[in-house]
Amino acid sequence: MKFKRLGSTGIKISPIILGTMQFGWRINEEESFKVMDKAIELGINCFDTADIYSRRANSYPGKSEEIIGKWLKDRKIRNDLILATKLRGAMSDDINDKGLSRRHVRQAIVGSLKRLQTNWVDLYQIHSFDNDTEIEETLHALNILVDEGLVNYLGASNVHPWQLVESFWISEKYGYARFETVQPPYCIIRRMLVEHQMCHVIKKYRIGVISYSPLAGGFLTERYSREQSLPDTPRGEGAQKRYFTDKRWKIHESVREIAESKDVKMTQIALAWVLTKDIITAPIIGANSVKQLEENIGALEIKLEENEIKKLDEISDWIPDFEAIR
Ligand SMILES: NC(=O)c1ccc[n+]([C@@H]2O[C@H](COP(=O)([O-])OP(=O)(O)OC[C@H]3O[C@@H](n4cnc5c(N)ncnc54)[C@H](OP(=O)(O)O)[C@@H]3O)[C@@H](O)[C@H]2O)c1
Repeated sequence: MKFKRLGSTGIKISPIILGTMQFGWRINEEESFKVMDKAIELGINCFDTADIYSRRANSYPGKSEEIIGKWLKDRKIRNDLILATKLRGAMSDDINDKGLSRRHVRQAIVGSLKRLQTNWVDLYQIHSFDNDTEIEETLHALNILVDEGLVNYLGASNVHPWQLVESFWISEKYGYARFETVQPPYCIIRRMLVEHQMCHVIKKYRIGVISYSPLAGGFLTERYSREQSLPDTPRGEGAQKRYFTDKRWKIHESVREIAESKDVKMTQIALAWVLTKDIITAPIIGANSVKQLEENIGALEIKLEENEIKKLDEISDWIPDFEAIR
């Protein structure tokens, strides 16, 4: 496993991160333990979670962190792991138990550390910005957590480039820790959020990029095709609403074609394509079983030829309305 530097920070992470959004609702505790054990065995040293995972009808917010916490306590490998979590989502019906106010930042870290059964979080990410709180208040509150040693680095998910740049100016002005990473969605059918303006901010400020949904939540697998009915998965309808367009089916078919020609899985081609992009530090994968995890990590062994990359790049290219400033 070739480890990568996380942006400008001094830490190194595996080129693939294990996502844990599915723990506690899609897969139970026992299966989650097996997936985490296998991830460590395969050389993954970074896990991503969030306080609100798994807020679902059959689960509750905090469950994913709870499962990780139990596993960490049992396996006693906290020091070997780069642990990333997030805050901002509603943890209860209490109007103040969400967002990025000073009050909730404190409440959120106390809750996450307790559930994760650890004294520190390596990467603490805002899940998105909170339009009801001034960014100065949030950054001040987060900076205190860094000073206290509860958090090593800060990150930001689902943010606009201008918000990130503004946050850098504020961090610099007050001497606060800045956001060292971004966590946007990125895959072959969803490129624009990274490749449009964010990529310039990432390069200029040397930010680490840990992108999510590299398989478009499972759409980029053999289980989906234009001809067949929806696969039996709770994510099927979401995929249908978001991704079933002619252009995306064409990309899907190209990924399938290349996978078949190399006798590998579509997941591996979709992930291998993300891994060719220098702008991405590491994609975060969601695996529901050891089998899925092993298959996905297999992408690290896949070598896409120049002509294959070109074909995939071209078929998935996006065209901005204001091409002149691309
Ligand atoms: N910051 C954010 O807002 C945000 C949002 C989303 C995700 N994330 C993070 O990113 C992680 C990954 O996101 P994601 O789950 O959307 O990633 P993904 O890798 O695009 O999709 C994972 C889904 O793909 C399917 N899958 C995975 N491996 C497979 C295989 N080998 N064969 C067949 N199907 C396979 C499974 O679908 P089925 O469940 O249908 O079996 C699984 O749930 C999350 O766990 C979370 O840590 C962050």
